[in-house]
Amino acid sequence: MSKIEKRIDEIMNRMNLDQKVGQIVQPERMFVTPEEVKQYHIGSVLSGGGSTPGENRLEDWVDMNDAYWAASMDEDENHIAIPLVYGVDAIHGNTNVKGSVVFPHNIGLGAANDPDLLEKIAQVTAKEIVATSVDWTFAPTIAVARNDHWGRTYESYSETPDLVSKYAPRFVKGLQGKFGDENVIACVKHWIGDGATLHGIDQGDTCITEEELRKIHMPPYKAAIDAGVQTVMVSLSSWNQEKLHGSKYLITEVLKKELGFEGFVVSDWDGIGYLNESFSEAVALSVNAGIDMFMVTEKWREFIELVKEHIASGRIAMERLDDAVRRILRVKLVSGLFERPRPSERKFSNDYSAFGSESHREVAREAVRKSLVLLKNDENILPLSKDARILVAGKNADNRGHQCGGFTIAWQGVRDNESIIGGTSIWEGIHDVAPNAELSIDGEIANPDKHDVAIVVIGETPYAEMLGDLRVPGLSKGMKVSRGSTSEDHTPEDPFPIMKEGPYGTHLYHHELHPEDIATIRSITSKGIPVVTVMVCGRPLVINDELDASKAFAVAWLPGSEGNGVADVIFGDYNFNGKLSFSWPRYDNDNWNLGDEKYNPLFPYGFGLRYL
Ligand code: BGC
Repeated sequence: MSKIEKRIDEIMNRMNLDQKVGQIVQPERMFVTPEEVKQYHIGSVLSGGGSTPGENRLEDWVDMNDAYWAASMDEDENHIAIPLVYGVDAIHGNTNVKGSVVFPHNIGLGAANDPDLLEKIAQVTAKEIVATSVDWTFAPTIAVARNDHWGRTYESYSETPDLVSKYAPRFVKGLQGKFGDENVIACVKHWIGDGATLHGIDQGDTCITEEELRKIHMPPYKAAIDAGVQTVMVSLSSWNQEKLHGSKYLITEVLKKELGFEGFVVSDWDGIGYLNESFSEAVALSVNAGIDMFMVTEKWREFIELVKEHIASGRIAMERLDDAVRRILRVKLVSGLFERPRPSERKFSNDYSAFGSESHREVAREAVRKSLVLLKNDENILPLSKDARILVAGKNADNRGHQCGGFTIAWQGVRDNESIIGGTSIWEGIHDVAPNAELSIDGEIANPDKHDVAIVVIGETPYAEMLGDLRVPGLSKGMKVSRGSTSEDHTPEDPFPIMKEGPYGTHLYHHELHPEDIATIRSITSKGIPVVTVMVCGRPLVINDELDASKAFAVAWLPGSEGNGVADVIFGDYNFNGKLSFSWPRYDNDNWNLGDEKYNPLFPYGFGLRYL
């Protein structure tokens, strides 16, 4: 038996039932105090997207972690010292925190097709996380997104398992390293098939054969597990009508036994609640399915009582609870948590020299450059000359919030420049190198005597999860969600208010989703000024009109805080490098993906022009 397993035995021999049950519980920070962490022996706490302590500075995070950690380590006759593990959604940088560098969302990193750069991004992300003394991020998402209607398409690297499988281990290695002071625990999500739900409905039903599930959606997990990933998050979706959170077959038989995963499995946000109308039943089903750590954000006291009742009645076997606790302790030991000093005393806590630093921003800027995909360049209008008289227009031209997309500062993202501290908007990046450029968001000042060319930055506005879905009426019934809001409703006091909005739209047609964009382009071209369009978007959309009206067309995806990476390429300092890791649709209800029988995209997988 290894040293670690022996140590687990020693700890577990000292644990009573309350301590074991507490260890498998993960409340959201809004709903648990440090005193309760000690009283209930809580094993983990999380921040949901946008849930931030104090004024959301590094020191506020470190103070918060200090208090939770100290409570978990305060040993006495009723409590054993086991370090708490704190989890956040650092999915494209540590982007809950003010002033962090914001990397392009995964869809852009997929287009960059650069595994070395990906690992570097993960390392930088880990450094920005440890500056807050957090130990664990719910990343990377390794979904293979198969339907562009899905609101989480941007969290996916690619529609094919090949690229995702190549990336998953590199991101995991970048985060976890050898679990030194600069590393954090990774979490691959969402097990399994989250990207293939019918009609792309978030948290919906993945109706595919087991063969397809294994062929398309499993390989990235295999690669991540082989690379040593310590945690896996279960999907809120179903597989052929069975919710993943209750699937003993997929969690215990396949993930743990067949793939040999030895870390712990965490449930997603209140996901066990969907299993049954009776919460008691839901608790039994999910524990017995093989989940180890329970993200029960608010109802965690009830959860604890119910687990104890089920243990008493034999509905949950003690061996199952022991397995869950053993796995959690294993991750805490393997990742070195027991050896770490209190959060405020860790080497890189409050490290403002790294957090949001120029060198970190340089990595993000490189990622922006490499992720841009050029779809059209008539008469080689690009690259532009820096001396040209350029009009810059479009609602996404000067909006760092829009550039960053969801999971940035707030769960649903933000819609202004001020909330994103540091970095540059696309306009700012252009203006920095092309001093003659002029900004006019609606393009009204366009004048052929004054402007040689226009850059119009169009696209989507921020969304996350189900609020980003494009749901075809009639095909998708009402949304079942546990939280939600518009970004405007988000406040630090109430980060998860009741949802007021529906999904993002119904179809992929960009001119219907955002008629203002084609209007801006046409108002400029009608004056005889050629337009270069740059699109900020979390997924491929049908853009036939916008493309026709533009001389050149580049996709920037959701580039994050370093908008100047766009200018680097538009003016020819660097060549275009990005290749589509998602096929670009010709019209909606297409056959989406490479390999589909009637594959007929507007631009195929792998497409991307370059300067000669
Ligand atoms: C999402 C997860 C995320 C979790 C915690 C859920 O709604 O599905 O991806 O990690 O919230 O914020």
